[in-house]
Amino acid sequence: MAYPVQRMRRLRAHPALRRLVKETSLSVDDLICPLFIIYGKDKKIPIDSMPGVFQLSVDRLRDEVRDIYALGIPGVLLFGIPEHKDSMGSAAYNDAGVIQRAVREIKKICPELLVITDVCLCEYTDHGHCGVLEGDTSIDNDRTLELLARQAVSHARAGSDMIAPSDMMDGRVGYIRKTLGSEGYTQTPLMSYAAKFCSAFYGPFRDAAHSAPAFGDRKTYQMDPSNAREALNEVKLDIEEGADIVMVKPALAYLDIIRMVKDTFGCPTAAYNVSGEYALVKAAAGRGWINDEAVTMEVLTSIKRAGADIIISYAAKDAARMLGG
Ligand code: PBG
Repeated sequence: MAYPVQRMRRLRAHPALRRLVKETSLSVDDLICPLFIIYGKDKKIPIDSMPGVFQLSVDRLRDEVRDIYALGIPGVLLFGIPEHKDSMGSAAYNDAGVIQRAVREIKKICPELLVITDVCLCEYTDHGHCGVLEGDTSIDNDRTLELLARQAVSHARAGSDMIAPSDMMDGRVGYIRKTLGSEGYTQTPLMSYAAKFCSAFYGPFRDAAHSAPAFGDRKTYQMDPSNAREALNEVKLDIEEGADIVMVKPALAYLDIIRMVKDTFGCPTAAYNVSGEYALVKAAAGRGWINDEAVTMEVLTSIKRAGADIIISYAAKDAARMLGG
């Protein structure tokens, strides 16, 4: 049956009817807000390439955390910028490290807010790679696992509600799961960056987290953007190793992967709307070329429509406001 019997516009004429037939509804319940925690005191440093996002010292977290909670956003994802970096990333698994202190502080300010901590060495190593080196240039997968597990246990001990490993070493989810278990943290959920692509969209994040690799790139551990079947394999392994939530990252350039992961595994699926994706919107909006608010909502809705249950986004606060929070 076609035109004139069928007229698709009939259901588009009335605003209330449009609401009734809406297939995808973005909710504040879907959002996680990333936070950059920097060493030192009394710091709130704007990140040039990410307008509206700041590096905050632990003592400046209060207002930000209260804002996020008041907007109804369920959780925050923490990244640390330590004062000292070394070849082993030892600041990552120091119980007095920036993240460990930030977790304890946020739990004091707002115990109901879910605190998720990123586990990876790139912000803590002097060479900027996500694992420890073997020789001058290659990454030693298995020695890295031990350190990631120490970092995860240290986060759990500080009170982290969920651990999010983003390093892309083989076997890290299983190793972290086993180590957390042997330390008594059997109930700590893992949200693994399961399909994490080697993406040029991470540029602004690396400025913000001071984590650009000092040499080479991340191609030996992060995935080739050309690969979809391999992404499913990564996700499958992480689920088998004990991940509770699996993540696809970036989001916007990988909507097909989000859909495939959701359809194949059906488990809680997160998508990371990364720094470069955020920066593109802000840069164009800053020039008056696009409407910031409309594009932000369209971007987030597309990620939800693709199958994401959880969206990590630097626009979380803006979106929450627009959603009426
Ligand atoms: C750490 C990590 C990165 C991001 C999240 N965790 C950067 C990277 O892999 O280089 C990127 C997030 C973003 O761009 O917003 N490994």
